[in-house]
Formats: sequence, C-alpha cells, structure tokens
Amino acid sequence: MQFRPHLKAACWAALAACPVVGHAGEPAPRPQMNFPVTDRARFDYRLHCGGCHRDDGSGQPGFVPTLKGQVGSYLWSRDGRAYLVQVPGVAQSFLSDVRLADVLNYIVGDFDPKGPPAGAQPFAADEVGALRKFPLSDATKHRRRLRTPTSSHPERP
Ligand code: HEC
Repeated sequence: MQFRPHLKAACWAALAACPVVGHAGEPAPRPQMNFPVTDRARFDYRLHCGGCHRDDGSGQPGFVPTLKGQVGSYLWSRDGRAYLVQVPGVAQSFLSDVRLADVLNYIVGDFDPKGPPAGAQPFAADEVGALRKFPLSDATKHRRRLRTPTSSHPERP
C-alpha cells in the first residue's frame, strides 16, 4: 500500500506534538542521571571490555552476558552490586580504581539507565578498590543465584 502524503504529514504533526520527542536538538531526558556517561569511560570500556562484551554491550550469546537492559538490575541488592565489581573481567582489569569505577558507571548509565532503583548511588573508586581485591572464583554460581529474583532481591521488579 502506498504511504499517502497527507497521512505522512499527520504523522509528523503528531510527532511534533508528542512530549517524549522534546525540543529539537536536545537529547531525550535520561531517567537515571546518577551514572555518568563520559567519553573517557566509553573509550576505556571499548578498549578493556568491548572485545568480549561488544561496544554496544550486547555480549555474545551463550558466552559473554549482555549488559544491555540487564546490568542495572544487579544494583537492587548489596550482593548484586558487589558482584558487578568482583566478576573476574572487572576485578582483574588493568584499569585503576578510579577509571574502573567510571567504567562501571558508564555501563549502567549507557546500557541500562532504567535498571537501577531510584536513588542508587554511582560506584566510587574506594568502594571498587576494596571489593576488587576479592575476585569471584565461581562467577557462574553467583550469577545464577543473583538472577533468581525471589531469592536474592525480592524487591526487584
Ligand atoms: C575475556 C572476555 C571478557 C572481558 C575482557 C570482560 N568481560 Fe565481563 N564478563 C565476561 C564473562 C564470560 C562474564 C560472565 C561471568 C564469568 O564467567 O566471568 C562476564 C560478566 C560481566 C558482568 C556481569 C554481567 C552478568 O549479567 O553476569 C559485568 C558487569 C561485566 N562482565 C563487565 C565487564 C567490564 C566492565 C569489563 C571491562 C573492565 C569486562 N567485563 C571485561 C567476559 C569478559
């Protein structure tokens, strides 16, 4: 079926009136501003993590978990938050504590901004420094436990 010109015009008019689109030139508002997305962290992520997790965080099915629409959900529990730092690829990366904290904030802010609970705090360098000293020897076991919502964080949607 042909896309009739007057329908097209009506669609554009509807889009222009739609508040979600916002004013021309402005980025759409982010629901979660606590997890800053910086250029340096994006660069560090691509260099140190993107080889496995992909630049867009989509991972490799069956091998490397996706971070998209997922990573923020771990922030609903203390254990989950620690897991994000102690998973081996994070804890044992070559990045300094400061830059690693920035990368963790970046992956939440860019790949799953709606995932964390309201008011969740960003990762800080000293928190990351303390937790990364204890990398998980069995990440898969922890992952399985944390991904069962009722057992670990019942409040999670
Ligand atoms: C060599 C490949 C590789 C690299 C490099 C890597 N990861 Fe991972 N990552 C994995 C795998 C595999 C898992 C699944 C848990 C496990 O087996 O360690 C994982 C798990 C994770 C998780 C937990 C996600 C979940 O749902 O379980 C996060 C968060 C994460 N990685 C972030 C990062 C960050 C940030 C970096 C860079 C600093 C990084 N990873 C580097 C392979 C990698």
